[in-house]
Amino acid sequence: MKHFSLDDNLPAKKSFMPGIRRAPHRGFSLSPKDTVLALKNALRYIPQNLQAELAPEFLEELLTTGRIYGYRYRPEGNIKAKPVNEYKGTLEGRALQVMIDNNLDFEVALYPYELVTYGETGQVFQNWMQYQLTRKYLELMKSDQTLVISSGHPVGLFPSSELAPRVISTNGLLIGQWDNPENFRRLAALGVTNYGQMTAGGWMYIGPQGIVHGTFITLLNAGRKYLNIAPDEDLHGVLFVSSGLGGMSGAQAKAIEISGGIGVIAEVDKSRIETRHSQGWVGKVSSDPDQIAGWIDEYRRNKKPVSIAYHGNIVDLLEYLDQKDIAAELISDQTSCHAVYEGGYTPAGLSFEEGRELLARDSEAFRRKVDESLHRHYRALKNLTAKGSFFWDYGNSFMASVFDAGVKEIAANKVDTNDGFIWPSYVEDIMGPICFDQGYGPFRWVCLSGKDEDLRITDRAAMDCIDPQRNANDRDNHHWIASAEENKLVVGTRARILYADETGRVRIALKFNDLVRQGIIGPVMLGRDHHDVSGTDSPYRETANIYDGSNLTADMSVHCFAGNVARGMTLVVLSNGGGVGIGRSSNGGNGIVLDGSARIDEVIKKGLSWDVMGGVARRAWARNENALKTVSEWNEQNREAGHITEPYLPDEQSLNELVTEIYPATRSK
Ligand SMILES: NC(=O)c1ccc[n+]([C@@H]2O[C@H](COP(=O)([O-])OP(=O)(O)OC[C@H]3O[C@@H](n4cnc5c(N)ncnc54)[C@H](O)[C@@H]3O)[C@@H](O)[C@H]2O)c1
Repeated sequence: MKHFSLDDNLPAKKSFMPGIRRAPHRGFSLSPKDTVLALKNALRYIPQNLQAELAPEFLEELLTTGRIYGYRYRPEGNIKAKPVNEYKGTLEGRALQVMIDNNLDFEVALYPYELVTYGETGQVFQNWMQYQLTRKYLELMKSDQTLVISSGHPVGLFPSSELAPRVISTNGLLIGQWDNPENFRRLAALGVTNYGQMTAGGWMYIGPQGIVHGTFITLLNAGRKYLNIAPDEDLHGVLFVSSGLGGMSGAQAKAIEISGGIGVIAEVDKSRIETRHSQGWVGKVSSDPDQIAGWIDEYRRNKKPVSIAYHGNIVDLLEYLDQKDIAAELISDQTSCHAVYEGGYTPAGLSFEEGRELLARDSEAFRRKVDESLHRHYRALKNLTAKGSFFWDYGNSFMASVFDAGVKEIAANKVDTNDGFIWPSYVEDIMGPICFDQGYGPFRWVCLSGKDEDLRITDRAAMDCIDPQRNANDRDNHHWIASAEENKLVVGTRARILYADETGRVRIALKFNDLVRQGIIGPVMLGRDHHDVSGTDSPYRETANIYDGSNLTADMSVHCFAGNVARGMTLVVLSNGGGVGIGRSSNGGNGIVLDGSARIDEVIKKGLSWDVMGGVARRAWARNENALKTVSEWNEQNREAGHITEPYLPDEQSLNELVTEIYPATRSK
């Protein structure tokens, strides 16, 4: 029992390094009774002899930050993922410690002291006591036990079997009636729930690289779809304007350069621009729109790629482009609108610092400013799209936030958001049909040895598994992996992202496991983003291109989670709200530690296949054209192994006629 609790000794008070970003005050509105409850909840981790001393300190944290983080329990200095052999425990226990530490690295995490990895509010754990306790469990876990994590809280280590997952984790799951941001805020302040985003609480974040490949695919295909750019051409001379150089949004600048285009990304927070600039992820920086306009001209003329950070508000940048009649062919937005009133979106007219100050002082006034800014933002986009720009929502709940701010005309039916919006989401037009419906998604791996050489070997091995002649996706993916090293994408652990489909993922994973078996490379952690074929149900994003009405259901993500547990993946996660905010998605992820064993070969073959095809099956049942094709091929190739139900397709015209007959009003229109 003692092994699994925190020490009786009081840890020293910790200092905060200057220059490391801190999370904003999340607001404090608990009643006196709830405040006592929040303290009681946090003190559950604290040995009796320390409680009198820590209670006032926890209260102070709650009042000054809106949460109890238990800063005293944070290890001093930077946390960095070490090579896997330097941790204690079984290989799987050690591998999971690598992943957790990487999510909290100063270089990787957005607010490392508050355990936020990315996406403004995405936490690995709710507090440092959970971090310490989970580390202990992972060090002592045996290979026939399973650790259960509930919103960062280690519920316990339970006997299971070698074939079961080592960790089953959930984040932020709420009962339907209470599943909304208001209730969530109270429960998070009470210390009983966590917003894990996707790979923050899912322990699978690999830095902004994780999203660069998807952003690269999105930009290239946006060019092909909206601007008729030929499949073998890049985006030279095309201007892409967006916002955000944060955890995921930071990928935009890098991705537009790799796609050959010109990118101007607005960012209000100077420190994030500095981070991305020092990492070589953004080329030029200016707060002067005239200077930026000069660069746009120059790079259009010489047809060379460039990425530019505009230090300022996206609304001001868009209004400037509109006033000066500067054509921006492609426009999007990646402010953290999933947490629009919690600091994720800085309203126009306020600097980043002024926004933070107003949020802490008067959250209602901040809310009003956000709404005004969203109105202006919308107006500028309407003007620019009327002049020929193409805008898409980047899955950050931007259009939903504009709607909530009172702009009903952004909804397709002008009344509610059930029929979508006037502009497409990137999943509807691009990621859904081109990737998810065909099983392509953000497969990734981490070389647990921490060696560059292992990453190089796995890059080459993965490239050998992809036939660039097979289809357009594989041609782009082959190009991506061939130039991955020279694009210097690694931040944190030695990791790689590579979009792949079912057969691609299985082939690459088996190859890697064989390399581990032969001792050519050290162990590898395989995983994926939750933003994938089957992992996430979200009508605002991953399932935005599901049109049979089931876009509002969440069965697929739960089936995916349960199926991956059944197939013995090492880590299996299910969370609420990833990407778009609480109540707006159900999302899950996974991880498999490749140890070179025959058991893991089986987990790969059955687990990865299910993890992809469960989602393709649902997409095909919704009559998505590319998914129908993928399922029919799968059924053909897996005659003995299984079968996916395929829909019959009725004649839509005769159905319309049939229904029109009973609706005379419709008939007369
Ligand atoms: N990259 C992707 O493929 C992808 C996919 C789906 C969803 N998203 C969504 O995109 C959003 C951003 O993710 P993130 O991890 O980068 O979050 P983040 O909070 O780390 O970054 C957002 C950035 O936007 C900046 N910002 C806020 N308001 C601004 C404004 N008005 N003008 C200019 N800059 C402003 C913030 O300072 C911050 O740096 C999230 O809602 C996320 O869920 C991204």
